[in-house]
Formats: sequence, structure tokens, C-alpha cells
Amino acid sequence: MTDDELMSVAREVAGRAYCPYSGFRVGAALLSRSGQVHAGCNVENASYGVTICAERGALMSGRAAEGEEFAIARVALCLPGIPREELPAGGWPCGACRQALAEFASDEVMVLSTGEDPGFMVTSTMGELLPMAFRGAVLK
Ligand code: THU
Repeated sequence: MTDDELMSVAREVAGRAYCPYSGFRVGAALLSRSGQVHAGCNVENASYGVTICAERGALMSGRAAEGEEFAIARVALCLPGIPREELPAGGWPCGACRQALAEFASDEVMVLSTGEDPGFMVTSTMGELLPMAFRGAVLK
């Protein structure tokens, strides 16, 4: 699975976002260590705080599909509302999603992001996005 293939899944699922309140679409595609792809989009709610981000939607799907095998190998995000010049600073998961992803992703896991321009991709790592992640009392 190439980065471009994983990203095309993220872009496709962003098109299925339910975001009537913010108008801001997000798609996430997680490649698991076993080679499966799990996708999610943001699903908003009239009670705004009930909204689920794309990344956490994909995460729940991954664990539900793979159970104890589930571990994240790569993350692709698509935020089609973000112009190219804003992507490097603003095209990353929210804090809650960074923490949620870190439960199943090591610091070395690559995070790829695209915005409005499908030809422009930025990359980071989980460790860069969430340094010194909280991992509880159990050492992993
Ligand atoms: N959103 C995500 O899906 N992922 C993020 O990492 C940041 C925010 C969604 C939540 C809400 O539906 C919309 O983007 C605006 O905040």
C-alpha cells in the first residue's frame, strides 16, 4: 500500500463526512501492521460535543475489525477545506485524536496529511505530534 493509495482512501472517506454544523470535512485512513486499511470521517451532532472526529472513527473501526491484532503502521489524513499554505501548520489531528491514536501507534509511525490540493502532502510522526505521550502505568 503506497502513501498515495492510502491517501486516496482518506480523500474518498472525507467526502462522506457528516458536518452540517462546521462545514469542515475530515477523512482518515489507517494502515494497520497486518496490512488492512480502516477509514473514518467526522460525524457531527446537533449536540456539538457528541461529534466524533475522523481519526477516532477510523480507530474504532480498526480495533473492531482486528481485535488484539490491531496496531497502526501509518496514518493518512485528508482535510479538503485546508488551503495548501495552511496545511503545514494546521493540517494535523486534534489533541484528543493524537492521544487516542498513540494508544495503538508507536512514536515512529508516519502521519501524512493533504488538504485542498491533492498534489501537496505534508508528513510528520506520532512522536513529533505528541511528544512524551501518556501511556499509563503499563509500559508498552
Ligand atoms: N475534526 C476531525 O475530524 N479531526 C480532527 O483532528 C480535528 C477536527 C472534525 C471535528 C468537527 O466535525 C470538525 O472537524 C471541525 O472541528
